[in-house]
Amino acid sequence: MKLWGGRFTKAENELADSFNASISYDKRFYRQDIAGSIAHVTMLAARNIITEEERDTIVRTLNQIRDEIDEGRLEITDDYEDIHSFVESVLTERTGDTGKKLHTGRSRNDQVALDMKMYVRDEVKNTDALLKQLLTTLLKLMEEHIDTFMPGFTHLQKAQPVTLAHHIGAYFEMFRRDRGRLHDIYERMNYCPLGAGALAGTTYPLDRDMTAHLLDFYGPTLNSMDSVSDRDYVIEFLSALSTIMMHLSRFCEEIILWNSNEYKFIELDDAYSTGSSIMPQKKNPDIAELIRGKTGRVYGALMQMLTTMKGLPLAYNKDMQEDKEFTFDAIDTVKGCITLFDGMVSTMKVNKKNMEISSQRGFTNATDAADYLVKHGVPFRDAHSIIGRLVLTCIDKGISLDELPLEEYKKECPVFEDDIYEAISLKTCVELRKTTGAPSRESMEKTIRLEREYLDFD
Ligand code: ARG
Repeated sequence: MKLWGGRFTKAENELADSFNASISYDKRFYRQDIAGSIAHVTMLAARNIITEEERDTIVRTLNQIRDEIDEGRLEITDDYEDIHSFVESVLTERTGDTGKKLHTGRSRNDQVALDMKMYVRDEVKNTDALLKQLLTTLLKLMEEHIDTFMPGFTHLQKAQPVTLAHHIGAYFEMFRRDRGRLHDIYERMNYCPLGAGALAGTTYPLDRDMTAHLLDFYGPTLNSMDSVSDRDYVIEFLSALSTIMMHLSRFCEEIILWNSNEYKFIELDDAYSTGSSIMPQKKNPDIAELIRGKTGRVYGALMQMLTTMKGLPLAYNKDMQEDKEFTFDAIDTVKGCITLFDGMVSTMKVNKKNMEISSQRGFTNATDAADYLVKHGVPFRDAHSIIGRLVLTCIDKGISLDELPLEEYKKECPVFEDDIYEAISLKTCVELRKTTGAPSRESMEKTIRLEREYLDFD
């Protein structure tokens, strides 16, 4: 059942036939294909290229076909080359010669460019909605943990104390930027290729503005050769999806560490953990690991698409059919990962006590001890080495700076007084960091308020 049998005298080799076919995966955009066809015939009738009766018959039947597929009453079988052939064949079976007029002034090249663009456009929106949901979860956690102290790390070495709200807030920013990227992609891609024909437009007096607006595009694309061969938006979307995965993966890595026996900062819910077949005591963070693992798969889709496109001459080439499978897989993967991640972080138990104890160990307040000296007139470089020596003394004695007696402080520098303990307490260390974007309650309240406004507005 080919759309192009006329010129051929022999059937295609069976293997070549199945190698060439895309129906097994492009069937997933039957709704976009039908919507595009409805817009196309509506415009053909407006331009008197087909009659209004013909338009009505085609539109009615296409709507029926869509509903029947939706409801599982019409099965898309692999007997057809692609979804375009399937829809047109069923339409023609049901409406005879009228259905045969559907493809007037259109090529599968602009048709598939349209279908893919509409499909990706929908998924850009769906991904954005999931990210917004995740940001809502993260903001709730930030509000809950504004006073949950934890160590901040550099080089995975304890550095300075922060709060869990502040740490989660870093990821809030990342996912917020991810949404910005999706928004940019949408703005750039939202122009309609329908009407570009095979590559050089058509001789029919098509109204491309009309179809573009019927399909919610900002307008028609401006070069017909580019229209049928542009897959930049797929690459951009895969790049944005890769960045989302990179962010999820980094967060998963931390969750895996925090959930480990050594850290015990959090405990993942049973619903998001798995057991071992041999070690009865085990509760493993498999979901977090798998999200981290699936990142490679999404990067793979990006690399595949970049590579597929790199040597293609204008305009359409069949290589472009390879824009679908990995892209679909990447979209499904990322949407699944965001949803699972959301569930995992909203159900995890936070061990505030352990986080706090950990931030009291590891000299996270050493910078603040040096700043204390600076406030008393000691140059920073000297203060740095005085505190360095005091840290060594503490390591020797197996204690923290908070536990070091005042005489020891005074031995290194007479400036120290009893108020050093207050100055280097965990609370002071965090609360004094009041600059915009810093972890103090005051700064975090401001940040949370701004993020809340952003979520409410957007
Ligand atoms: N299945 C094809 C694709 O996905 C549809 C376009 C076919 N066009 C062509 N000239 N063979 O790209």
